[in-house]
Amino acid sequence: MSDLELKSRLITLRRMRPEDAEPLYAYRSLPEVSRHQDWLPESVDEAHDLARKQADLVPATPDSWFQFIICRLEDGEMVGDCGVNFPADVHKSPELGIALHPDHRRRGYATAATHLMLDYLFDELDVRRVVAGTDPRNLPAIGVLNRLGFRNEGHLRSSYWQRGEWTDEMLFAILKDEWAREQGAE
Ligand SMILES: CC(C)(COP(=O)(O)OP(=O)(O)OC[C@H]1O[C@@H](n2cnc3c(N)ncnc32)[C@H](O)[C@@H]1OP(=O)(O)O)[C@@H](O)C(=O)NCCC(=O)NCCS
Repeated sequence: MSDLELKSRLITLRRMRPEDAEPLYAYRSLPEVSRHQDWLPESVDEAHDLARKQADLVPATPDSWFQFIICRLEDGEMVGDCGVNFPADVHKSPELGIALHPDHRRRGYATAATHLMLDYLFDELDVRRVVAGTDPRNLPAIGVLNRLGFRNEGHLRSSYWQRGEWTDEMLFAILKDEWAREQGAE
């Protein structure tokens, strides 16, 4: 299958491979990475399972999660992962997720990865609207979304149970024409 690779001046996004499972598990299982994440691999086998399911997954398959690996452009080192959840109902909005290895934060990689996913979704897949949700305490995640022009669409109080507590969720979205305006304004 011809493979998807998205590139910016800082990073590339590529499909997850079997050899990514162990490093992904190593940082995804750190408490500072998993704290606000829905998906927490309980074992390295779960990460291998994810890699297996990604091997021939066609991007934009309804009811699927497409997982990218974020690699630093200069040397190809894996710095994190990100992905898009494509809902079963094709009229609903794809949702983004992201996690960086703690050693690779605050260099703009998450912003660059989210930027690439938005370009791909709006320009290649002609998606109308993209959403992201986060715990309002997750200021770095909110920083990435604000930097790219996502709008805050609401604050859901005590909306889900996570890691032993009722948790709030802040919803964000961006429309295709809003993204086009953001790009024009850059
Ligand atoms: C959410 C997460 C991915 C954000 O990572 P991040 O490192 O803050 O984001 P970026 O990689 O885009 O880096 C942005 C920071 O680098 C700085 N930066 C440096 N060079 C930059 C560049 N070229 N472009 C943009 N920002 C740059 C920015 O100013 C910003 O710094 P600030 O936080 O002081 O404002 C990260 O905190 C994480 O992995 N958290 C754990 C998992 C998680 O909670 N995921 C989200 C679930 S909803």
